[in-house]
Amino acid sequence: ATERTLSIIKPDATRRNLTGAIVDRFEKAGLRVVAQKRIKLSKEQAEQFYGVHKERPFFNGLVAFMTSGPVVVQVLEGENAVSRNREVMGATNPAQAAEGTIRKDFAEDIEANSVHGSDSAENAATEIAFFFSSDEIVG
Ligand code: CMP
Repeated sequence: ATERTLSIIKPDATRRNLTGAIVDRFEKAGLRVVAQKRIKLSKEQAEQFYGVHKERPFFNGLVAFMTSGPVVVQVLEGENAVSRNREVMGATNPAQAAEGTIRKDFAEDIEANSVHGSDSAENAATEIAFFFSSDEIVG
């Protein structure tokens, strides 16, 4: 079925001017950018967005990293968009990511891993609503 997922191009990627190269991977995989904005996350936004990881040892570092530069938040639409996007991104740890994936080709390490993508359709709906109002999404 046609689905939507939330994508974030992270500060390590925007810093290295990789936004277009990453969007190209999404589009070539059949995902369509139906909403997009470049923003600087506040500490509060990053803490809230990653709230599920609050107790993890990497939480403070993650929040510092995600607020260290601009991010590009996007809604991607397509057939099975959640799982398709996860395939294109590759494993969280670039050392374990498959050949040809975004994280294998671009990520610096497990934290600065270039992209975020929703891990389920349910979380996608929550994450999309976190950044976009319905009138900002044009399918
Ligand atoms: P993301 O898919 O956005 O979800 C949580 C993020 O935390 C992850 O990508 C990484 O950027 C970061 N992170 C840092 N260390 C770890 C770790 N050990 N395990 C999982 N995620 C980590």
